[in-house]
Amino acid sequence: MEDLAVVILAAGKGTRMKSRANKVLHPIMGRPMITYPVAVAKRLGGRVIVVVGHEAETVRAALPPGTETVLQSPQRGTGHAVACAAEALAGHRGYTLLLYGDVPLLRDGTLSALLEATRTQEAAIGLISIDLPDPQGYGRIVRDGSGRPLRIVEERDATAEERAITEINTGIYAFHTPFLLSALSRLRPENAQGEYYLTDLVEIAARGGERVVTLTVEDREEVLGINDRLDLAAANRRLRMRILEERMCSGVTILDPATTWIEPDVELGIDSIVYPMVTLRGKTKIGEGCTIDVGNVITDSEIGADTRIAPYCVITESRIEGNAQIGPFARLRPGTHVCEGARVGNFVEMKKTQLGPFSKVNHLSYLGDATVGEGVNIGAGTITCNYDGQKKHPTIIEDGAFIGSDTQLVAPVRVGKNAYIGSGTTVTSDVPENALAVSRVPQRNIQDWVLRKKRSS
Ligand code: UD1
Ligand code: CA
Repeated sequence: MEDLAVVILAAGKGTRMKSRANKVLHPIMGRPMITYPVAVAKRLGGRVIVVVGHEAETVRAALPPGTETVLQSPQRGTGHAVACAAEALAGHRGYTLLLYGDVPLLRDGTLSALLEATRTQEAAIGLISIDLPDPQGYGRIVRDGSGRPLRIVEERDATAEERAITEINTGIYAFHTPFLLSALSRLRPENAQGEYYLTDLVEIAARGGERVVTLTVEDREEVLGINDRLDLAAANRRLRMRILEERMCSGVTILDPATTWIEPDVELGIDSIVYPMVTLRGKTKIGEGCTIDVGNVITDSEIGADTRIAPYCVITESRIEGNAQIGPFARLRPGTHVCEGARVGNFVEMKKTQLGPFSKVNHLSYLGDATVGEGVNIGAGTITCNYDGQKKHPTIIEDGAFIGSDTQLVAPVRVGKNAYIGSGTTVTSDVPENALAVSRVPQRNIQDWVLRKKRSS
C-alpha cells in the first residue's frame, strides 16, 4: 500500500527476559524476533521505520539491510517513541500502523482487517483490543454508555472500577497520519510513570470528535507480545506449527510435526518425507522426493532430488546432488560437495571435499581438502592427513581409483586414474595412474610361538 507507513517500537530492553541480550534479538525459529514485525510490514507494502534505543547498534545490525531507523534516547514512553518518528512521517497523508519488536506472531490478515476498518470508517484511530479474564498489567479500554471508546487507562492510573474492565489494549493501532502528527505534540507525561503515553491519543481523538474504532480479536498469543522465556517458547511452537502446516499443504510429508523443526527460509520439494526429530535450518534447500530420516540436523545446505539421508547426520554448508545416499551417522562439514549418485556411509567426516559421481566412502573415514573423481572406492578407515600442524594441504584422487582400507594419504598428494592402494598403506608421494602402491611391512609367521611362550612361563 502506497499510503501506508509502519512504525515499529523496539527501544526498550525487556527486563523480564532476564537476559544479557536485548529482548527483540532473541531468535524465534532461527531469526531475531524483530525481523518478524519488519517482515509483516514489508508484506503489507508499507514504508517501515524502526524506533531503536536500548543497544541501538546491535538491534540495527539485526534488521534487513536498508531498514530505516530512528533513535529514541532516553526512553520516555510509547508516545515519546512514536514522536521520535514524527519527523520521518512529516507530510505523510495516509495511515500509520504501529507495531512492536516483541510482537512477532501477527498475521497479515489481522493487520489488513484493522487498516480496512480504520479506512472505511474514516477513523482517526483503529485499535486492536482483546477480552482477557486476567487483564492485569494492561491498559483498559474505557467506553461511554453507547459503547464508544473514550480513553485508555493504564493499570497504575486506573481506579478499582476501571481495573475491573476486561477489555484491554493490545497496543496495535492504525492511525490516520495527519491526526497522529498533530496529536503527538499534545501528549503530557502526567501519569503515575511520568511517561508520554501513546494511549492518551484515544482520549484526544474522542474529545476532538474524531472517530476511534476497535477490532476485537480472540487469539491472545498473536497480539500480546513476548515478555519472558515462557512466551518465547510458546511463540517458537506457534510459528513452527505454521511453517509445518504450510509445507504439508505444499506437498511435503512430515511424519511427526510435534518433533520437527523447519526454519522459515528452508525450501522443500514435493514428495520429500521428513521423519521425526529432524532440524532443517537456515537457507537449506531440499529437492523433490528426498528422504530425511530420523534425527538429521541440516544447516544452510542444498540437497538434490531423490537423495536419501539416513538417520543422525549433521550436515552444514554442504551440497549434495541427486540420487545420493548419506549416513547413518555422517558428518558433512562446510564445503563438502557430494556429486550425483555418490554414497557416504556411517562414521564418515568430510570437510571442503568433493566426492565425484558414483564414488563411495562407506565406513569410518575422514576426507578433508580432498578432490575425489568419479567411480572411486574409498575403503574403511581411510584418512587424509591434510594438516601438518601449520597448513592444510590438498589430496587429489582421480577417477576409478581404489583406496584400500586403513590408508593414510599424507597431503599434498595425488593418486592417479585407476590406481590401486593396498590396505594399510601410508601414501606419502604421488601414485601414477594404473599403479599399485603398498607400504606395508611384510608379514612374518613364527611357528609355534604361543606354545613355546606358554611352556617357558
Ligand atoms: C503498553 C500500553 C498498554 C497496553 C500494552 C500492551 C502504553 C502507555 N501502554 O503498555 O495500554 O495494554 O502496551 O502490551 O502505551 N517502548 C519504546 N520506547 C519507550 C517505551 C516503550 O520503544 O520509551 C516499546 C517497548 O520496547 C515495547 C513497547 O514499546 O516493545 C511497549 O512498551 P511497554 O513499556 O512494554 O508498554 P506497557 O507498559 O506494557
Ligand atoms: Ca511501561
